Amino acid sequence: MIAGRRPAGALWLVRLLVLMLVPVVSLLVSSAPAQAHPALVTSSPGAGYAVTSAPREIVLTFNEPVSLPDRPLTVRDADGVQQTLRVVLDADGATLRGVPAAKLAIGAYEVGYRVIGRDGDLIADTFTFGVATPVGAVSGGNGSSGGVGNPEQVQGLTTVLRGLLFVGLALALGGAYLAWRVDEATGGLPGARPLLRTGSLLALLGVIGLLAGLGSLPEILDRVAAPGVARLLTAEALLLCLAALAARRPCRGALAAAFLLCVVLLEALRAHPGEADGVAGAGLTVVHLLAGALWLGGLVHTLRLTAGWRTSKPRAVRVAVETYARNAFVLFLLVAVTGTISAVTLLPSLADWTGTTYGRTLLVKLALFALVLVVALLVRTRMRRVHRPVGLPAPHELAVPAATVPAHEPRQWSRPAGVEAALLAAVVLAAAAVTSVTPTRLVPVSSLLTAPIGPTLRVAERVRQVSVSIVASQGRLEVRADAPDDGEPLTIDLTGQVRLAGGVERGLDLTSCGESCWTGPVEWATGVNAVSLDVDAQRWEAGRVSIGVSWPAVPTTGLLARVQSAMGTRSAIDTVETVTSGFGIVLPSSSRRTGQEFLESQPWTEGGATDAVLLEEAGQRTLLFALPALGYHFAMRLDSQDRVMSERIVTPNHLLTRDYGYPPA
Ligand code: HEM
Repeated sequence: MIAGRRPAGALWLVRLLVLMLVPVVSLLVSSAPAQAHPALVTSSPGAGYAVTSAPREIVLTFNEPVSLPDRPLTVRDADGVQQTLRVVLDADGATLRGVPAAKLAIGAYEVGYRVIGRDGDLIADTFTFGVATPVGAVSGGNGSSGGVGNPEQVQGLTTVLRGLLFVGLALALGGAYLAWRVDEATGGLPGARPLLRTGSLLALLGVIGLLAGLGSLPEILDRVAAPGVARLLTAEALLLCLAALAARRPCRGALAAAFLLCVVLLEALRAHPGEADGVAGAGLTVVHLLAGALWLGGLVHTLRLTAGWRTSKPRAVRVAVETYARNAFVLFLLVAVTGTISAVTLLPSLADWTGTTYGRTLLVKLALFALVLVVALLVRTRMRRVHRPVGLPAPHELAVPAATVPAHEPRQWSRPAGVEAALLAAVVLAAAAVTSVTPTRLVPVSSLLTAPIGPTLRVAERVRQVSVSIVASQGRLEVRADAPDDGEPLTIDLTGQVRLAGGVERGLDLTSCGESCWTGPVEWATGVNAVSLDVDAQRWEAGRVSIGVSWPAVPTTGLLARVQSAMGTRSAIDTVETVTSGFGIVLPSSSRRTGQEFLESQPWTEGGATDAVLLEEAGQRTLLFALPALGYHFAMRLDSQDRVMSERIVTPNHLLTRDYGYPPA
């Protein structure tokens, strides 16, 4: 520590404590065998990665048999909701499996494990994984979209089922509303009854279909127990049943409509605007969905009334038409304004409109909507021409055939109005398609990176108090940073550039792939590519670090096993080790062990070594590999007998450098 500069408050104390602890830690690390406790060797899904389809089981493999305390394995979703698991320990005692009772939905998960090792010590740790469309492939996740397929694609079945729900709501609510208004205007003239019951049953069919899509009955019942889509759809189904029952009695129409309004509220809670902007977004959807439903349902009911009254009560037709027309403009405004606000908040950039399926599907909806407007204008013009507003007739005049309106004339507007209704239904179906895709803004951002494909290089470096590891694979770079965990929230910022082999320099276009994780496209050049990263870890010291990526990565199989046997047969191995974590003084330590003792202290001898790659440069052989479950990265310089001559191990909190000597036997 430089004399005279005193960092403030608790941080000064943390640093002082760490300073005092370093010598003790390095002694402990160097002398004691490295792996006294059981260690997680591999996990499936891989720690920190996403899988694009829900895993049937979560599997943890430890380096030794373990026994299980209570709650040995938990899986929580992004909202902290614990997933029901059946936990099994395999006969080998080292493999722990968790079988989710219900299919895991799209999203991020945290796995917590607690096991007891042979030494009786309990170890507990966590890691994350994701079920989602990987970053870089497409953007999407679909908590509220309800489907379990690829959230970037329009879900066909979900679209049809949700279309049934919306059209059902429109027929029921829109019909009931217009019937009520026309009733008032005509003093209760008998005519077509609103499709309250049919609409409710149609909507119910849609909701039951959506529920069935969530899994088997036991799975659905499990999911209903927790807040989420399953519970919401179940509530909607119950409300729609009640609405259909109440609608059987005309006198209970208002009650049925009340149940349906509750369904609209629940839909607003599920919809993306509500997910993105809370109450304000949900409020927009209530008005949007209701206005759209009253528009479509009202138009259909007007057509039905017209069909029934056209010959017998043409004046009543005019009342219905004018009642509808008076509302239609207001409904159009409400739908357009609320829809536009939702659209603009969900799709802030032009690229979101043209570059994502969600945006493109909404554009299709808007194109259909424009068509509706053209036809609607035509209908209004014709309505006005046919039913010149001469003031509403008195109820007793309604049944009198109007000399002014020959019976066939309403056809002039009812035909295009039929087209308008059909187009509006198409808009509603397009709306259903939009809701089945997830807007980019709502992608669950944590752990949305699939495991690298093909030859992969894993290297790491320690930059002062932070460890930085990179995974280079075909066309992709993945960077993760680890800083000391003092229990306080921490946001690490990272930017960088790459100097490709051959000298071309490029800035790195990195996107987040979860906490302290970044990824971006890099077309590696053959040779050594230098990745330099600027790391800002707030209260922890970091800075610029440069890591070489030798490309192409040449996977090597069997070499680590040869190293293990070359080292294991040594009668004596001298080790000079330096452990640093970026907190002040580094104390090298030395030891002499037999080959077997050496191997017992190496975490990689228990398996789990991933992506072993051999670099042969300037006559030197360097073996690189990682233990991703532990976050350990190894770079071993080997001699021609596969003995380790020197080694750099980067762990989440330390850099260990070791030089080995082999005294004659
Ligand atoms: C300017 C015209 C319109 C725009 C910009 C617009 C925009 C939107 C947006 C952004 C959503 C949210 C989708 C989601 O949850 O991801 C939505 C939902 C919806 N829109 Fe529109 N819309 C328009 C017109 C209409 C019309 C004319 C109708 C029907 C008559 C309609 C019916 C619906 C329905 C039923 C939903 C689903 C609500 C839900 O998720 O519960 N929209 N609209």
